[in-house]
Amino acid sequence: MKKKVLLGKREIKKGVKKLAYELNNDYSDKSPVLVGILKGAFIFMADLVRELSFPMRIDFISVSSYGDRTRSSGVVKITRDISVNIEGEDVILVEDVVDTGLTLSFIYDFLKRKNPNSLKVCALLEKKVERTKRFKIDYRGFWVPNKYVVGYGLDFGEKLRNLDKINTMEF
Ligand code: IMP
Ligand code: MG
Repeated sequence: MKKKVLLGKREIKKGVKKLAYELNNDYSDKSPVLVGILKGAFIFMADLVRELSFPMRIDFISVSSYGDRTRSSGVVKITRDISVNIEGEDVILVEDVVDTGLTLSFIYDFLKRKNPNSLKVCALLEKKVERTKRFKIDYRGFWVPNKYVVGYGLDFGEKLRNLDKINTMEF
């Protein structure tokens, strides 16, 4: 297995700042609830919220998806629900990477049923892949090639989340 740097520290920082700039514009007079998807989004979420200038609440949701190590199956189970009541609230779902989009669209529908006032999606990375189901990402950090990526929260078999750069893995 070989790793290759795809996005370095400075580039990631620029991408996070760009997303924060957009969110700061759109939510300047609001007080949304940010919901991070564990575990992958934890580093991105931590960096992002420190660039935001509006009042907010922060929560996390955790899911397990039944697939192999590098492919998602779309069969998702909520293993930790949010604890903030989001009924009537503006909610921003924060995700590390959108691949098939199956995980995100499951969580999106799950949160939608809690009747938030609005529900938007902010993803650091979106892979360039053909999707059976279209999914709208409201705030996207980077388009990335359809390769397995690790680091900055993203894992390979639960490891490599701590890498400070985003790398592609060659198998
Ligand atoms: P999706 O359902 O195919 O969009 O992918 C769901 C989840 O799989 C994401 O939330 C990630 O946590 C994980 N994932 C997808 N692609 C990658 C990757 O390239 N590296 C690490 N995790 C990934
Ligand atoms: Mg994830």
